[in-house]
Amino acid sequence: MSALGSAREGAPASEMLALKARYLMPCVYHFYREPMVLERGEGCYLYDSEGRRYLDCYAGVGVTSAGHANPEIVAAATAQLGKLAHTTTIYLTEPMLRLAEALAAFVPGDLEQSFFCTSGSEANEGALLLAKLATGRNDFIALSRSLHGRTYLTAGATGMDFWRTDPQPPENVHFVPSPSCGDCPLKLERASCGLRCADAVGELLDAHPGEVAALIAEPLHGNGGIVVPPAGYFERVQAHLRRHGVLLIMDEAQTGFCRTGKRFGFEHWDIAPDIVTVCKALGNGLPIAAFIATRAVAAAYTKPGASTFGGNLVCSEAARATLAFHLAHALDEAAAARGAELEAGLLTLAGNHALVKEVRGLGLMRGLELVEADGTPASAATDTLLESLREHGVLAGKTGPGRNVLTLMPPLVITPEQVAELLTTLDIAFADLMTQRSIAA
Ligand SMILES: Cc1ncc(COP(=O)(O)O)c(C=O)c1O
Repeated sequence: MSALGSAREGAPASEMLALKARYLMPCVYHFYREPMVLERGEGCYLYDSEGRRYLDCYAGVGVTSAGHANPEIVAAATAQLGKLAHTTTIYLTEPMLRLAEALAAFVPGDLEQSFFCTSGSEANEGALLLAKLATGRNDFIALSRSLHGRTYLTAGATGMDFWRTDPQPPENVHFVPSPSCGDCPLKLERASCGLRCADAVGELLDAHPGEVAALIAEPLHGNGGIVVPPAGYFERVQAHLRRHGVLLIMDEAQTGFCRTGKRFGFEHWDIAPDIVTVCKALGNGLPIAAFIATRAVAAAYTKPGASTFGGNLVCSEAARATLAFHLAHALDEAAAARGAELEAGLLTLAGNHALVKEVRGLGLMRGLELVEADGTPASAATDTLLESLREHGVLAGKTGPGRNVLTLMPPLVITPEQVAELLTTLDIAFADLMTQRSIAA
């Protein structure tokens, strides 16, 4: 372990595991066979209760983009906490309104009016409702590898079986094949497919005229395994949607706020979403989310809508400071530059290990798909790598329907030296894995 300082007594993992087993629902899983107790963060580093330091390359699933315990964000939130924490939306408060103004300036295009809530699921649920109100239709389209949340409708609009828990999901969601060229659901080759997966949207709409309110999609799949759609996919999809008067909702939960090297993931494509949903990195760790729409679409939402903690004053001030930090430090450019360094290193690593089928992603949202020689997902190897990385002081994630995509989403303030540290540690972890495999063989 890359320990900093001497080991000390903190909350013991065994005791925390016992509390978890007794008091949390069994659906709440954790990473690692012997999980550590995380206690403190600073910049790109996390510290556990025994004083060990980890380079955090998952950032709480792409949340703490401006770094852990960012002093400017902490100062803004604590100043507000000491003044007034909560009133709810039935009163006028400056932090929420200034944040709405700042968001409208930060988001490209004419997406201007926000509704604040507290989680990505809630933002997506609200966006889907707004699409119904704006179109007077009831159905939705989602992609087969998507993840959109945990509420009844957003889990129902989640394509990945892994995250679909309700035995009786809603019936008004239609799925289309995800544009995942490395593992095409239509079994086609990119060179000759003619973007069949995008035209599947048009065919579905032709078969259900006047029924679909919106298509919801991530600009690139996060939990689905860091899948970047091919050039022209979303442009073709939006053309089909427009032909049928269907709205486009972009779920920017993971991709928003500079993660992919642009302020929003959808900016990689020549499209204009009608509604964008944001959460995770907006509050840099404080729970705040929103759906943001054009004035024309938002105009349909006139029946009273309230959220107790929506636009919470402390979260709003944290979010405003987060946006200011992103702008002042050009985190979009930083993510693009560090992302290119990371990609180059990952491609070299992939060249040395047959286990790596593909290196995917944009900016600082990267995935390594690991596949065994027989083509099956290398899920156990992915777990071994995660354990080994952690042993060597690096935390990473895993995604994909087969849980075999090693996922890297560090804070966007990661330095070139820390990217190099990550790559060196990945080399060591792969070497460990190869040694373990040769001993086992
Ligand atoms: C793309 C996407 N949408 C929605 C959600 C749900 O967000 P939350 O957990 O804040 O409800 C997630 C969570 O990981 C996500 O990745």
